[in-house]
Amino acid sequence: MKVDDTRVEGGRATTADSTLAAAHLASDAERIRILEAEVARLQAALHDRATELETLFDVIPVGIGVALDPECKHIRVNSGFAKVLGLETSQNASKTADGEERPTNFVCVDLQGKLIPDDQLPMQISAREGQEIRDHEIDVIHEDGRIVRLLEYAAPLLDAAGRPRGAVGAFVDITERRSAEERERRRLAEIAHVSRLSTLGEMISGLAHEINQPLASASNFARACQRWPQTSGMPLPDDVRRLVEKILGQTERAGEIVKRLTTFVKKGASTPVFVDVNVLVRDVIALTKSCFYPAMKRDLETPLLTDLAPHLPRISVDPIQIEQVLVNLIRNAIEATQEARLSAPVIVRTMRVADAVQISVSDGGTGVAAQTTSELFEPFFTTKPEGIGLGLSISRSIIENHGGRLWVEPNAEQGATFAFTLPLDAPTQWR
Ligand SMILES: Nc1ncnc2c1ncn2[C@@H]1O[C@H](COP(=O)(O)OP(=O)(O)O)[C@@H](O)[C@H]1O
Ligand SMILES: [Mg+2]
Repeated sequence: MKVDDTRVEGGRATTADSTLAAAHLASDAERIRILEAEVARLQAALHDRATELETLFDVIPVGIGVALDPECKHIRVNSGFAKVLGLETSQNASKTADGEERPTNFVCVDLQGKLIPDDQLPMQISAREGQEIRDHEIDVIHEDGRIVRLLEYAAPLLDAAGRPRGAVGAFVDITERRSAEERERRRLAEIAHVSRLSTLGEMISGLAHEINQPLASASNFARACQRWPQTSGMPLPDDVRRLVEKILGQTERAGEIVKRLTTFVKKGASTPVFVDVNVLVRDVIALTKSCFYPAMKRDLETPLLTDLAPHLPRISVDPIQIEQVLVNLIRNAIEATQEARLSAPVIVRTMRVADAVQISVSDGGTGVAAQTTSELFEPFFTTKPEGIGLGLSISRSIIENHGGRLWVEPNAEQGATFAFTLPLDAPTQWR
């Protein structure tokens, strides 16, 4: 029995075995001495182990809770976890603790914002039901309104008979990670919104152009009527004259509305700021990988690489719009590579050219035929079954609004390069 116990200690079992064998052969006094020495050695080893565990408990940057009863009435926490919960390490952190001991400075809610009953918290379930809980997310809401998102793991501690006698829990604070994801999602939504807005903008501009023509004709005809007496020598009846004036007034009003609408669309909601293009490129790549990659139907892996010129001057742009252009180009490049069923990388480059910064997206995809390059930029031109054909036309109008140029060149070997410039001297509307 004793021998079995020491065997649990692994490497030390041999020493214990031989100690016991020696004790068996020796005299009583000798035996006691040998056994006492062995007990002292085991105590020292145990003490070392306990110190190691205590130190780990204290320094590990993960919140840890330990409960030694199946109802989790007492949870001891390490300093990391105590800090997250706003407690002292000496305090009982258990929500199922009796009376005064129960912490009241925070509540735990699930991701839908519903209060979690005290006996339904992960460690409580784990200790009571002997079950392991993994990757469980909860929000801890503090008295001052601060919310901490925790990723939890809980495992039961079992007694010799295999019954749960407590639980250990590990808690990682993922508040920062979650809010970064949240920011990313919001930015994506903003890009999608800008995309819709610029589509709407293009449609309004097109519509305004279409409406202006008949409006101009209507007012020309009305003016011709006003000049009728001079040109024909016949007077215009008063009623008719008044009606013609009314027609003119109304067409002018309509013209004014159209003009206001187009200036409104042109102004959009652009907010020019000075940006480091390389930072913007890196952001977009991270965004593409985290948000667009999972949404794309991709059979092959398309590596996304960068070749960024250092020390580029900062330029004044609307960052959301330029991000949108990059997202469009990168997405097209990946789609063209996928269509060609190749695994060539997509490379985003930045460089300084005469009086501008140039950004290009190269792919080894299907490529573009020289004779169709201008067609690609037409609104609604698409060769994809689910394409809309607005990406390139919107991108081009955004870049031209920034005083730059966007074009495409076929690559020497395979695929195409879409490139655009952003002038260092931003046009006046960006100042
Ligand atoms: N990198 C590329 N390689 C080859 N063809 C491309 C590339 N980018 C765009 N095209 C062509 O230009 C068309 C228009 O692109 P776009 O305006 O973004 O609309 P969509 O992506 O919805 O088709 C695409 O359908 C495709 O035929
Ligand atoms: Mg596209």
